[in-house]
Amino acid sequence: MIALSLAEVATAVDGRLVAADPAATVTGSVEFDSRKVGPGSLFVAFPGEKVDGHDYAATAIEAGAVAVLGSREVPGVPMVLVDDALAAMGRLARAAVDRLPGLTVIGVTGSSGKTTTKDLIGQLTTRLGDTVAPPGSFNNELGHPYTALQAGPDTRYLVLEKGARGVGHVRYLCELVPPRISVVLNVGTSHIGEFGSQDAIALAKGELVEALPPDGLAVLNADDARVDAMASRTEARVVRYGEAPDADVRAEDVTLDERGRPSYTLVTPEGRAPVRLGLTGRHQVGNTLAAAAVARELGMPLAELATALGELGLVSTRRMDVFDRPDGVTVIDDSYNANPASMAVAVRALASIGQGRRTVAVLGYMAELGPFESDGHAEIGRLVAELGVDRLLVVGEPAAPIHEGATAVENWGGESVLLTDQAAAVEVLRGELRPGDVVLVKGSRYRTWEVADALRAEAAGESRR
Ligand SMILES: Nc1ncnc2c1ncn2[C@@H]1O[C@H](COP(=O)(O)OP(=O)(O)OP(=O)(O)O)[C@@H](O)[C@H]1O
Ligand SMILES: [Mg+2]
Repeated sequence: MIALSLAEVATAVDGRLVAADPAATVTGSVEFDSRKVGPGSLFVAFPGEKVDGHDYAATAIEAGAVAVLGSREVPGVPMVLVDDALAAMGRLARAAVDRLPGLTVIGVTGSSGKTTTKDLIGQLTTRLGDTVAPPGSFNNELGHPYTALQAGPDTRYLVLEKGARGVGHVRYLCELVPPRISVVLNVGTSHIGEFGSQDAIALAKGELVEALPPDGLAVLNADDARVDAMASRTEARVVRYGEAPDADVRAEDVTLDERGRPSYTLVTPEGRAPVRLGLTGRHQVGNTLAAAAVARELGMPLAELATALGELGLVSTRRMDVFDRPDGVTVIDDSYNANPASMAVAVRALASIGQGRRTVAVLGYMAELGPFESDGHAEIGRLVAELGVDRLLVVGEPAAPIHEGATAVENWGGESVLLTDQAAAVEVLRGELRPGDVVLVKGSRYRTWEVADALRAEAAGESRR
């Protein structure tokens, strides 16, 4: 963060200083985990039923924190006292970025691919100047200000992921840290249980372009009609990316290599250049075009852009992470999270990498689909069968419609089984995997990771119980 005196912090958050020196200055990071506190930090204490941050206030001061931002007094601890520490942290983030006129804020939203694309943009902007775009999602009312507060006087680019579980969420995040460039990737069905409809999701995602200043830039996916239509919701300039023939930044002649890595001709108003990605999956065409549109806006010449795109790598874990085990099995670890759209791209990547090889999909439950839950799962099962995947392991009873969807497809040459849990899936894989197989692991977070980790551990020869 930039240096701020406690008096400035108190003004920014509308707080009251207690036992604190108004001239003392926060020069370090803003942390809500006392273990991360260092000299000059500001520690934010959140109240909680299980863990109350205020219990760690004294520890934070001992570790070097200048003061604690919290909602109740702790004897002997210098404090900035507020009613709501989370809202205060948001206001502090706003005050901090407002003091950085040389900073360009880039916001990314969409139903799928936010973290992936944020990481891609961050890798490109790093070539242009100091960038804050930490790995991981950090896309909510906590992660967002936490990330923004990492920007300092030397930071030129701040790349933020904007998540939404309802209408108004993105608008709020944009009030905390207003974007100058807004990227909207897609309108899918993730969290549709909470939103109610895809139109409501479009309404919510479009808040990112509504937040733009007139001299800002909206980067919109021309291949997604709901995203394309967002052009009418902003006064800012619009750059459309995609494979649509009239897109401003587009990909032509897309091909995939034997590892599912796309190559294409990048076409921009400045000209054409060949791009060969090191990333896996057809969906990376759109994600990289979105990132290219941002870097182009920030002044990266076309030739450098094409080279930079080819050098993009993975930053955040468990997203389309493809690795080969010594035994000749290829694993696609896409276990971070899942919704119908991201499941579909992952299954397609499996089919593409698996051409001429035996393919295995280990798929778990997709959370938060509400009334679309049963159909959403069944559709993925159908896709698995239609793409001719050889073996499907459906993990957990809630994911059963995937199994039913696949087995309902006539003439499918593959085989599906419904397993009780991840441990059962690992057992089946141990028994069945042969050199040359390609395995995809995907589902909604947490326990799905166990399967990917078991496959990884076996690759390292660590665990054979
Ligand atoms: N443009 C895309 N369209 C559809 N699916 C995508 C796209 N980009 C990535 N994915 C898939 O979505 C998965 C999750 O990607 P990522 O973590 O970037 O999404 P996210 O939007 O940040 O998710 P979350 O809402 O959980 O933060 C990827 O591993 C991949 O399978
Ligand atoms: Mg994310």
